[in-house]
Amino acid sequence: MTEFKYYNPVRLVFGPGAFDEIGDHAKQHGSRALLVTGCTAVRSSGVLDRALSHLDDAGMAVALFDRVIPNPTDEVVTAGAELALAEDCDVVVAVGGGSAMDTAKAIAIAATHDLPISEFLKAEDKAEPTEATLPIICATTTSGTSSELTPFAVVTVTGRQMKNAIGSDHIFPRVGICDPELTLTCPPRVTATTGADVFCHAIEGYFSNVATPLTDHFAEKAMELVGAWLPLAYAEGDKLENRYHMSLANVFAGYELSNCGATIMHALEHPISAHYPEVAHGAGLAPLLVPYAETFSRYDPVKFARVAQLLGAEVAGASVEDAARMAAPAIQGLLRSIELDTGLSELGVEREMLPALADDALRYMTHGIAKMPCEVSRDDLIALLEASY
Ligand SMILES: [Fe+2]
Repeated sequence: MTEFKYYNPVRLVFGPGAFDEIGDHAKQHGSRALLVTGCTAVRSSGVLDRALSHLDDAGMAVALFDRVIPNPTDEVVTAGAELALAEDCDVVVAVGGGSAMDTAKAIAIAATHDLPISEFLKAEDKAEPTEATLPIICATTTSGTSSELTPFAVVTVTGRQMKNAIGSDHIFPRVGICDPELTLTCPPRVTATTGADVFCHAIEGYFSNVATPLTDHFAEKAMELVGAWLPLAYAEGDKLENRYHMSLANVFAGYELSNCGATIMHALEHPISAHYPEVAHGAGLAPLLVPYAETFSRYDPVKFARVAQLLGAEVAGASVEDAARMAAPAIQGLLRSIELDTGLSELGVEREMLPALADDALRYMTHGIAKMPCEVSRDDLIALLEASY
């Protein structure tokens, strides 16, 4: 029997059409919104105009901050916080993928604390966000980071090539809107990489030393949904049914991630995209997945056998150990179906950088590595990167 705690205060609004409620929810938390988004996809899909219209209908004044970039930096956060202060915003509304939501969360802290945002990173451990943090509303346009349900914001510190997370209950969004219709225009490559991120969150928490029976249930459901629906969402992204089930996977993974956090693949991926900012988060994770399963399945064959089964492997009649060994090829098949069965070399990562990436993971991502249920050395990290190359 396991004792555990669980906490997630986000008001989830889920389903086709949920986005239309964004104004009504935002006005519960303020009257002047900073709307945080990227500058292209959300604009071209018409979602930005809908957000502006809904916020206006709710009687809110809106300042638009549309300078979100992939792998958002502290410089972008500072610029957003300056706008929030200049416009006297009292709520931060994110519409976009993980980068927009993470930027919004960091802005909500930076606008209310007289410290550089880097001081709040887990690796720095110098400052904690307080209840002064502005309330945050998140509407996700991808099935990926689940940031609309988590207390995490990932920020890259310019000049130090460090990509690290802030974790605080004060950046749990007040409302998380997950409307699968918003993901209908997500391009196939982004669908694939964000879907790989969902799967990594699920399996990393599942195989962590902080997993609980509750989070295991969320993780299994997320992995099963990704296995069944990500290839379909990749191939036929305009079908709402495919997007609906990936949105559900995103929610299940989010409820797990919010309490377990990520582990070793994220510990290695953050240094990868810190050094190579053009590498999308999920693209950097994908090459690690099969070597991760091959390396670690022996430490918990029961769980890895379950992963294989959830991905449709023929485990009936096999021993637990043999079934566990089926997880890696099953994951390989999933990645192949979304054209992400690639190596780090194809992302432009230089082989001679691998030891430095492992060192960075040990320098500022130890909180993730510490959640592995086995000892992981520098040599183990380098071996995992080599196998992913
Ligand atoms: Fe992630």
